[in-house]
Amino acid sequence: MSEKKKYYITTPIYYPSAKLHIGNTYTTVAADAIARFKRLTGYDVMLLTGSDEHGQKIERKAEEKGVTPKEYVDEIVAGIKDLWKMMNISYDKFIRTTDDYHEKSVQNIVQKLFDQGDIYKGAYEGLYCTPCESFWTETQVIDGKCPDCGRPVEHAKEEAYFFKTTKYADRLIKYIEDHPNFIQPESRKNEMLNNFLRPGLEDLCVSRTTFDWGIRVPFDDKHVIYVWIDALLNYITALGYGSENDELFKKYWPCDVHLIGKDILRFHTIYWPIILMALGLELPKQVFGHGWLLVDGGKMSKSKGNVVDPVVLINEFGTDPVRYYLLHEIPFGSDGVFNNEIFIKKVNSDLANDLGNLVSRTSAMVEKYFGGIIPNANEAEPIDKELISIALDAPKKVEKNIDNLKIPEALDEIWNVIRRSNKYIDETTPWILARDESKKERLGTVLYNLLESLRIVSVLLSAFLPETSGKINKQLNIKLTTWESLASFDGTKGGTKLEKGDVIFPRIDVDEKLEMLNKIREDQLKENQQANIQPIKEEITIDQFDKMDLRIVKVLACEPVKKSNKLLKLKIDLAGEERQVISGIAKYYKPEDLIGKYVVLVANLKPVKLRGEISQGMILAAATDDDSKLFAVTIPGQLPTGSQVR
Ligand code: ME8
Ligand code: MG
Repeated sequence: MSEKKKYYITTPIYYPSAKLHIGNTYTTVAADAIARFKRLTGYDVMLLTGSDEHGQKIERKAEEKGVTPKEYVDEIVAGIKDLWKMMNISYDKFIRTTDDYHEKSVQNIVQKLFDQGDIYKGAYEGLYCTPCESFWTETQVIDGKCPDCGRPVEHAKEEAYFFKTTKYADRLIKYIEDHPNFIQPESRKNEMLNNFLRPGLEDLCVSRTTFDWGIRVPFDDKHVIYVWIDALLNYITALGYGSENDELFKKYWPCDVHLIGKDILRFHTIYWPIILMALGLELPKQVFGHGWLLVDGGKMSKSKGNVVDPVVLINEFGTDPVRYYLLHEIPFGSDGVFNNEIFIKKVNSDLANDLGNLVSRTSAMVEKYFGGIIPNANEAEPIDKELISIALDAPKKVEKNIDNLKIPEALDEIWNVIRRSNKYIDETTPWILARDESKKERLGTVLYNLLESLRIVSVLLSAFLPETSGKINKQLNIKLTTWESLASFDGTKGGTKLEKGDVIFPRIDVDEKLEMLNKIREDQLKENQQANIQPIKEEITIDQFDKMDLRIVKVLACEPVKKSNKLLKLKIDLAGEERQVISGIAKYYKPEDLIGKYVVLVANLKPVKLRGEISQGMILAAATDDDSKLFAVTIPGQLPTGSQVR
């Protein structure tokens, strides 16, 4: 037997810091569909997923809950595995970065990089975003906030080990230029080259001393290994690299595709390839950064409380409707929207109407006209030939799309056969043929062709909607499900009996279900608002309050602060005294909106310099927790400036 071709595909390993949402589910479902399709077409596939369990973020979360980090991650990882079961994810391996073998291999790899001089000791001073576990330079940070997530960064200084990324930067640039498919989609490639690589890299800080929850640096146990180094290495430690048994590594590496979200592209297309170069290993063939799943035009986020929970959808509608929406409705590579109404309507139109009806009409006719026994086909008429050629062309077209990671287009090709089959029923009018005993043979041929088209559809669907495909196979007694069997239009066996089954996709009452989903959304938002409210601060006395001097002032002039997109410079009048105040409200107000307004000033606040400008006091404003909305406190009438606010 000739050896099978190999295909290695990975998802990111997920942070067990929160419940997974539909966005994380998206990457994994897409990877699963590709993996299943590759298996169908004869590849020996390795689909890897897992969890990324170290780092300060996890340590802090565990602390908040009063459990050990390991206890904390164990519980969440169990939930992640349950979710993948519900979503029907056919992973071949689930790696946890707390697995013993991974920790040992990472230490071996880091030791090797140290021994060969690619890791050296230095000192780190800079800005750190804990939620992202990312270091930033002054120039990268935007108004004191992380350029990736927009949350405040913290100042950090520590003795640390560095990885000589600079040594490999030119080689990487050349590699990316010579391998146009390495970073996909194309636009993301240019972003990496122009924004990060060409301006010049800095050596990467790869160890931490300020917390404990990580893999120890083998040659200096005060340090733990930077969580991203630990995490990225999962793609090779999962295959045994760095351990005694690296058979799987030899078999599957290099990886065919790392499927990831666009937010972690920098790590996968800059640091990861450089680590591989330093280890003398081949680079992955492709890194594909897909877009964001948005809700109502914005990014899903826990703090906004607009996160879509896949478990709610699966419980209500089943796994395959959710898989179908993710795989078909989101243009692969771009941002897409999750919308309850579109979801329900698509399930009705594409799944219940197009596919479900085709299955039930076909089986009902075989039942009614042939007692449930599959008829044989006779000579094909031109109209049959058209259906047959569309059905026989589909496998190649689906394959080509999957090879280019065009998942929605692959599904379109399958639906093309489904829709053509429905049209074929309308054109051949089996119910009229059935009235005439002399047309019984013709009727048999028509039904055979429908069953055989559905067999091809079902085999192709097994990659995308495995549960549905299984149901169709059972109902239509489909036994032949190999890829090879799709090359000819004769895999359905006449004379065998169909099984009666339930409707595969019952029609959904749009209004009723939409109301239900919207209600869940509202409750979630409300709950989130309550959970997110800042706790009331420690009690103070009236004397303490009295120390604060709040005054009405009038805005005389206002202009943006140079080189800041956040700050405005206000000239104000306080009882004839002119003051300057710098206020971080440029995102919410145009300068002209404020001129002439009466606002509230904390008048006895110690002056500070912001961006080189003196600020004599602070303007009061009310804002949402995530700063998405802000209003300065204004007075709805005119009071003499200098009036006290008490
Ligand atoms: O980043 N839409 O883990 P993670 C689409 N542990 N994709 C989304 C999304 C959304 N709204 N939100 C998140 C990590 N994702 C690291 C990975 S790999 C060596 C280490 C995607 O749990 C996100 O882009 O924060 C990423 O690809 C994946 O979910 C995991 O995110
Ligand atoms: Mg993330």
